[in-house]
Amino acid sequence: MKITWKRLFAGVVTLAAAGLIVAWSGIIHIRASTGHWRVTDWFLHWVMRSSVRTAALGVQPPAFTPGMLTLAAGHYETGCAGCHGSPAMPRPVAVQNMLPPPPDLKAVVSTWSDAQLYEIVRHGIRYTGMPAWPAVERDDEVWAMVAFLRAYPKLDQATYRRLAGFSATQSQDFSQVVTTCAGCHSPTRLYDESLIPHLAGQSETYLRNSLAAYAAGKRPSGVMAAALSRLSNVDRERLARHFANEKTSTPTGVVSKAGGRGETLAQHGDKARGLAACAACHDTADANQAYPRLAGQPAAYLESQLHLFRAGIRGGGDYAPIMTRVASGLTDDDIRALADYYSAISMD
Ligand code: HEC
Ligand code: HEC
Ligand code: HEC
Repeated sequence: MKITWKRLFAGVVTLAAAGLIVAWSGIIHIRASTGHWRVTDWFLHWVMRSSVRTAALGVQPPAFTPGMLTLAAGHYETGCAGCHGSPAMPRPVAVQNMLPPPPDLKAVVSTWSDAQLYEIVRHGIRYTGMPAWPAVERDDEVWAMVAFLRAYPKLDQATYRRLAGFSATQSQDFSQVVTTCAGCHSPTRLYDESLIPHLAGQSETYLRNSLAAYAAGKRPSGVMAAALSRLSNVDRERLARHFANEKTSTPTGVVSKAGGRGETLAQHGDKARGLAACAACHDTADANQAYPRLAGQPAAYLESQLHLFRAGIRGGGDYAPIMTRVASGLTDDDIRALADYYSAISMD
């Protein structure tokens, strides 16, 4: 077949149309959850590195001074650590699910020259979430950050905190943190259809274990992982103590829902079906402190947690597998009846 201009043109148009149809069909997915193919990842980083290398040609770094470090460290804590982590705080779980995820800079800084870091910090990186410097006019600030990044891999936690100042020594004002928690957990917001649990009335042990499980990803919840992302172990223990000492809440359910099938199951189980009595572990005076109280929790919350346990994805503290086993024997009707029962009885 002879290649004529006409045929070439028709070929190009067909290809373009095919490309548009593929894009329109929706089969190219844009999910961050599945990651890039290894070759795509390699290609994108190759383009990024080449672009930064070329842009940095001829850029002359100034002399670095110690004053630059303190200026930049404070900004790093407020403007960068939330994505890249710091010696005082690991990278938050949520940002590790970005695509590409922000790298731990300790490991990558040495692969860039000063001029290249300047390019990256000043202009950001398109399509990645890496932002440009907020004031493009301020070269001097950008260079201070480069000086800081150069020193960064060698900084231990204590030195970093000294450089970064107040914001890195204390997560936040404690009462402010409690207010954030209460924004969701306040009893005034927790009615029967609520998917958010009451914290008051739980033991310190259970609250501490739950917070540790969320932070370690052993109890999966994007909402709670985000709420805890900037808090340290010490903050979490303090929060557990704080909420364990709060007044217990009043029952949220309608009292007529108590009794009947839910109550029988909860108090006595069902021997024929091999179901343990919930009361053997929950809401008894001498129960293990690591077992939560259920009385007075919103019915919708209890229901959702039981479904999660049954599906094997609830997780929790060290004793959670016990509960996964218990829930595996429950039907949807059992779950509804039990949730209604526990939401209707009082915590004390
Ligand atoms: C919203 C999240 C976010 C913030 C805030 C952020 N970055 Fe980034 N950063 C990223 C992402 C995403 C990448 C790209 C990673 C990739 O290409 O694989 C990146 C890349 C980088 C790189 C290149 C590292 C490499 O080898 O890929 C440097 C250096 C860097 N950031 C420094 C900073 C500094 C300094 C700050 C604060 C001024 C900052 N970043 C703020 C998300 C962020
Ligand atoms: C955006 C709303 C929101 C914020 C803010 C929030 N929480 Fe939660 N919290 C939830 C939800 C929703 C759940 C249930 C998650 C699940 O399915 O495991 C939960 C669960 C919990 C649990 C487990 C309780 C149990 O009975 O198992 C604890 C403990 C907890 N949160 C403490 C906190 C603390 C402390 C803070 C403040 C640092 C906080 N929460 C901030 C919504 C929130
Ligand atoms: C052998 C002990 C045991 C028995 C019996 C048991 N549970 Fe549990 N349950 C646990 C433990 C332990 C946990 C806490 C897991 C964790 O998060 O660490 C738990 C947690 C729960 C939770 C989550 C509460 C919250 O605040 O998130 C619900 C709901 C629950 N159980 C309901 C039930 C019901 C309903 C029954 C009866 C059908 C039952 N449990 C029987 C041990 C038990």
